[in-house]
Amino acid sequence: MIQQTLVLVKPDGVARGIVGEIIKRFEQRGLKIVGLKLVKIDEDFSKKHYAAHIDKNFYKGLEEFIVSGPVVAMVVEGVDAIENVRKLTGATESKSALLGTIRGDYSHISYSHADERGISVKNIVHASGDAADAEKEVALWFSVDEIHSYKRAGDEHLL
Ligand code: PPS
Repeated sequence: MIQQTLVLVKPDGVARGIVGEIIKRFEQRGLKIVGLKLVKIDEDFSKKHYAAHIDKNFYKGLEEFIVSGPVVAMVVEGVDAIENVRKLTGATESKSALLGTIRGDYSHISYSHADERGISVKNIVHASGDAADAEKEVALWFSVDEIHSYKRAGDEHLL
């Protein structure tokens, strides 16, 4: 099934100048970027995006982190895009993320290291967890006219 999913390059990924490296991995796998923008969100928007985590002990650090600088938001489209993208991003805890995944190749800290310091795991990217989250998150971050349908050279070899 062709799906759309939300990906964020978080403030650490933008500040480290690895946005291109990250986008490349999605394109390399044949996934299509159908929405893309640089955004600096505030605390209210963070509470909407991370609504499921507001009551968790790590939320304060997570909010401070996600509002600390601009993020690159994108809508990624492809066959089973939600699962495909999560595979490319790797496990949420950087320490557990396998080499070859974005988090595994560019970050390494553990939840316990972050929790001891009251900071977020700096794990480079966010990707929607399932179809319900993807639908909500794409609608939260993008208006309909910011998402584009287009043909890419090579689509006939990929789809
Ligand atoms: S996931 O990937 O969304 O399914 O993971 P989940 O465990 O549901 O989401 C947790 C989000 O909070 C971020 N975060 C932390 N989680 C646990 N412990 C600590 N210390 C922590 N710090 C931050 C984690 O990165 C998930 O956000 P995203 O944006 O999905 O990475």
